[in-house]
Amino acid sequence: MSDQTTCGVPAGEEMLRVKDLETQFRVDEGVVRAVNGVSYSLREREIIGIVGESGCGKSVSQLSIMQLLQRPGKIVGGEVWFEGQNLLEYGPKSAEMRAIRGGKISMIFQEPMTSLNPVLTIGRQLTESLELHLGMNKKEARARATQLLDLVGIPSPASRLDDYPHQFSGGMRQRVMIAIGVACQPKMVIADEPTTALDCTTQAQLLELMLSTIDACKGSLVLVTHNLGVVARYSQRIYIMYAGKIVEQGLCRDIFYRPRHPYTVGLLKSVPRLDEVRGHRLVPIVGTPPNLIDLPPTCAFYPRCSERTERCLTEPWPDLTAADGEGHLVRCYNPAERTGE
Ligand SMILES: Nc1ncnc2c1ncn2[C@@H]1O[C@H](COP(=O)(O)OP(=O)(O)O)[C@@H](O)[C@H]1O
Ligand SMILES: [Mg+2]
Repeated sequence: MSDQTTCGVPAGEEMLRVKDLETQFRVDEGVVRAVNGVSYSLREREIIGIVGESGCGKSVSQLSIMQLLQRPGKIVGGEVWFEGQNLLEYGPKSAEMRAIRGGKISMIFQEPMTSLNPVLTIGRQLTESLELHLGMNKKEARARATQLLDLVGIPSPASRLDDYPHQFSGGMRQRVMIAIGVACQPKMVIADEPTTALDCTTQAQLLELMLSTIDACKGSLVLVTHNLGVVARYSQRIYIMYAGKIVEQGLCRDIFYRPRHPYTVGLLKSVPRLDEVRGHRLVPIVGTPPNLIDLPPTCAFYPRCSERTERCLTEPWPDLTAADGEGHLVRCYNPAERTGE
């Protein structure tokens, strides 16, 4: 298993820097500002978490990085620096982006049935990227594909290469997704709610499997989820996202033990915590995230916030500002009081 300490300070060099990313969907009702000035970074062999409720722009931000947005999605601003290049200078269909997708950066999606191709065998879906990105011949690719299925715990892997996705169970399909995700030993894997559709035990097993597999190929991971409990366990740093913006970011331990944004505090109260003996009563955050069309310039969390004041309604949504702790930033006029260890 991983030798990384889950809440330790990451050591590697920075490999990805996303700066002020903005992605919109122009629809009949107006402009959906799905990603509204998001910045984050990822270092070598680091695991970061991007957390927020459904509809906060997590998936759209990741699809933007890969330039896999569906129409009418459009990146309207920002930079995505990866290995010294701003990927947004390449077109979505450019040779450069094709080489990066599935080669250096891969994405594991929430719903394997929609991301696996139903008319191609599992073997073909694995060998395709091995041939394309690693230049393997058919025989080599097939041998490696068998190895990969074995690695993710699929019994009799050689005989399953010729099966189609519908012949696999949900959990097995998710394993296949992990195998495809790590096939070319990517530098970076983006896992978007990779286990949400599965039961708790299978979720935990698959997450462990994914982490050890990524660790074995010395990759980094962006773990996207609505479940703060999951990322708290595995990530080194966490970004909390709300209504298309990062509202708090910091080391795992700061987010978990010294959360400052009322939204983070709310998320923490709404998930079971592994570190508590007696357990606490789970309290959901009242209300739902806002519609991202025509958002006001003021704080989008205002209607649900327990700490709101007049200022939140009259002044623009504040910038991220330093809180206690290394790299700990919060976007709020009334952050929660600092608490001790
Ligand atoms: N194809 C699309 N057309 C219009 N709006 C979209 C489309 N895809 C996503 N959105 C909007 O973008 C916002 C962010 O979505 P998403 O990134 O999927 O959220 P999350 O992954 O955090 O649940 C949502 O308000 C969603 O309705
Ligand atoms: Mg999503």
